Amino acid sequence: MRARLFLSVFGFFLMAVPVAAKDRPPEPPPAELHARLALTSQNPASLDEAIRRGERSAGVCRHCHGASGNSVRPEVPNLAGQNAAYLLEQMNKFVHGTRRSSDFMTGLIQALSPQERIDIALFLARQPVAVKAADTSAHAVSGKALYGKLCVSCHGPAALGTEKIPRLAGQQPGYLEDSLKRYRAGKGERIDPMMASYTRNLKDSDIRNLAAYLSTLAP
Ligand code: HEC
Ligand code: HEC
Repeated sequence: MRARLFLSVFGFFLMAVPVAAKDRPPEPPPAELHARLALTSQNPASLDEAIRRGERSAGVCRHCHGASGNSVRPEVPNLAGQNAAYLLEQMNKFVHGTRRSSDFMTGLIQALSPQERIDIALFLARQPVAVKAADTSAHAVSGKALYGKLCVSCHGPAALGTEKIPRLAGQQPGYLEDSLKRYRAGKGERIDPMMASYTRNLKDSDIRNLAAYLSTLAP
């Protein structure tokens, strides 16, 4: 399945990367891009334009992330409804190599210009999240209790996050599990000191329970 996806977007990848590498002005610091994103969000006319451009640029992402950022693959994250500054920050991390994924995914993000990243983040953040049926199993009930104890202080009571902290409600279950295990393993795929300390003592069963609860949590 992954191989098929890989091939379907490979053409774009081959075309985009050499152009990006050759004619690209130097990468602005992340803070400058965040300031641009905030400024654009405050101006309705610029925001509308950015969202329209973002929708076009995000066309290639739907092969994996689904139409309007609602993924149908458990291991591929939903981007719909995710907080814009968080999306931009993660794309910046792929660009700077402080978040590692498959070479293919990283190459694709590196081929985007800073403005395209801002536009895509603004577009995706405004797409509605597909809601899944609530999970009432014992796993989800335990996950909810653990969430209330360890995670709620940052990710919030409805798991919607903040501008800089990701929304977890409705996120794909396999992706939630993979991400938590990556923070816990500390091997550099995902680096965040806060998440490292909050996942350090989680057992695999805790991670499964948290994913069962969060992935079916409606907005
Ligand atoms: C070949 C499949 C594929 C394509 C195409 C793809 N992605 Fe991804 N994307 C992934 C996978 C898999 C992950 C999870 C990677 C990880 O955590 O290592 C991911 C993660 C992300 C994340 C981090 C999400 C989070 O919640 O932290 C962002 C942002 C993202 N992708 C943006 C994009 C954008 C923008 C595009 C289009 C320009 C795109 N992706 C195209 C597969 C893909
Ligand atoms: C002290 C604040 C804090 C606490 C407490 C916290 N988180 Fe996080 N979490 C963050 C931040 C900040 C990020 C973004 C880190 C990054 O850039 O990789 C994050 C990222 C994540 C992600 C990645 C989401 C994505 O879309 O890729 C998951 C999953 C997650 N947290 C789950 C949890 C769970 C489950 C708990 C409780 C066990 C928890 N967090 C506790 C701050 C926190």
